[in-house]
Formats: sequence, C-alpha cells, structure tokens
Amino acid sequence: MFLKNVKIMSTLVGGALFLSNQLVAQETAKELYDENCGTCHQADGGGVPFQQPELIDSIKVLGDKKELIKFVMEGTVNSPNMDSEWGNVMPAFDYLDSVEMSKILTYIRTSFGNNASPITEQDVEDVLKEQS
Ligand code: HEC
Repeated sequence: MFLKNVKIMSTLVGGALFLSNQLVAQETAKELYDENCGTCHQADGGGVPFQQPELIDSIKVLGDKKELIKFVMEGTVNSPNMDSEWGNVMPAFDYLDSVEMSKILTYIRTSFGNNASPITEQDVEDVLKEQS
C-alpha cells in the first residue's frame, strides 16, 4: 500500500515537472518571437495593413520548411528591387542560432490558429550546411 502510494506520487510529480517544462519552453519561444518579430508581425501574428503581412494561414509560414528557414534568414532587406506590396522591409535573421530559429519558426507554425509540423534544430542546421 505504502509503496503503491509512493509510485503514484512520483508519477504525479513527474507529470507536473514535465508540464512545467513544456510551459517554460513555450514561453521562451513566445519571448523570442515577441522580441524579434512581434514589433512588425504583432503579438497575435496579425501583421499591420500595408506594412507587413499577417503570419496566419500563410503559405510561406505553413508550407515548405526549407523555404521558410531560408526566407527568415535572408529577410527582404537585401532585395531592394523586389516587387513588394508591403511598405516595410524584413531584416535578415542570420544572427539567430539554430535553437532560437527552430523555436521561433515552430512557434509561428503552431500559434495564431496555425497548425503545421514543427521545425527542428536539425532542419535549420541542414539549411545552414547547404548554404556554406
Ligand atoms: C521590421 C519589420 C519586420 C520584422 C522585425 C520581421 N518581419 Fe517578417 N516580414 C516583414 C515584411 C515587410 C514582410 C513582407 C516581405 C515582402 O514580401 O515584401 C515580411 C514577411 C514575412 C513572412 C512571409 C509571410 C507571407 O505570407 O508572405 C514570414 C514567414 C515572416 N515575415 C516571418 C518573420 C519572422 C519569423 C520574424 C522574426 C524572426 C520576422 N518576420 C520579423 C517585416 C518584418
């Protein structure tokens, strides 16, 4: 009886620890997004009309992982002749490390009502390798 209770207790504690770790990870991804992207794309991913697009239901966000990684690394700041409908340019985020990049991109693919597969650190590193 005693042993059984200990087992149940440790399962509960383990579960609570797992949950709180998940919450911390999610918060960090949100913080990274808010710091790096939120000023332009807004905390709710809604963007700003004529300035920068929303990240909701966007093919670029939800589609091909490699294309998304490359796009966010390069931004649009170095393609001034690009025919853009948006008033603002997007900075290059090549200074983010692969952990930060994968967290932010997973966050935008799974927030604001979006529901696409996560982007792993390895996905980002594969793109970096291809480019070097
Ligand atoms: C200074 C403002 C600014 C910041 C900061 C910024 N962006 Fe952007 N972003 C833009 C603009 C402007 C565009 C539209 C570019 C174009 O198509 O001309 C854009 C486009 C995008 C798109 C393509 C959306 C679509 O449907 O076409 C994605 C994805 C994106 N940004 C992700 C991010 C992420 C992730 C971050 C943070 C790491 C970020 N952006 C930070 C301004 C910004």
